[in-house]
Amino acid sequence: MADYARMYRFGVTPWERYGEAAAASVAAVLDREEDGRSRPLGRALDLGCGRGQFTPELARRGWEAVGVDCVPAAIEAARAKGPEGVAYVVGDVTDLPAAGLGTFGFFLDIGCFQGFDAEQRAAQGRGVTASAEPGATLLMLAFGVTRLRSRIGGVSQAEVEDAFPGWDLLDVRAADTAGLGWPMNRTSPQWYRLRLA
Ligand SMILES: C[S@@+](CC[C@H](N)C(=O)[O-])C[C@H]1O[C@@H](n2cnc3c(N)ncnc32)[C@H](O)[C@@H]1O
Repeated sequence: MADYARMYRFGVTPWERYGEAAAASVAAVLDREEDGRSRPLGRALDLGCGRGQFTPELARRGWEAVGVDCVPAAIEAARAKGPEGVAYVVGDVTDLPAAGLGTFGFFLDIGCFQGFDAEQRAAQGRGVTASAEPGATLLMLAFGVTRLRSRIGGVSQAEVEDAFPGWDLLDVRAADTAGLGWPMNRTSPQWYRLRLA
């Protein structure tokens, strides 16, 4: 797996281009999460939130947003950015119950799950399921299985489904890579949307 602590330390964070380059498509998938939900929207957990590229947007949209990441420096940077009302926690998404975060109606995973091996994927799935409220949804952006997988991660649809056995896969769609440079534009990223059955 990528050495994220080292990458944050040296400012090598190519994934942070995604928020700007794919802003319209990210907005569209987040809009879809709000459709049909009553307000207040409830609690949302940004899994592997990094330096808070997307967590504040969840809060802006009306979620009670929490971001969790295992790299303390990333969480410090996210907190420094604010805004108030967004909670950030250092924690391991493959051991969510230990983080004691409570339950959530929506989970966002942008680029975290894709870096895990089978055991870690299953552990994330168990923790998310244990922390999920009835009807909860999970929106995941993950690289596909490409020649780059050993270096930057990637998962197949079957691997996503295997990690979340109690969930229905509602939708899979190719993510927008326009405006992204190499290697991001060669990773076949997919948006997965799942709902707790
Ligand atoms: C590709 S980055 C994406 C960060 C953020 N979602 C974004 O889009 O800016 C993957 C993130 O997952 C975090 N991560 C990796 N393994 C983790 C784990 N076991 N628990 C929590 N966070 C983890 C990394 O520290 C990193 O911030």
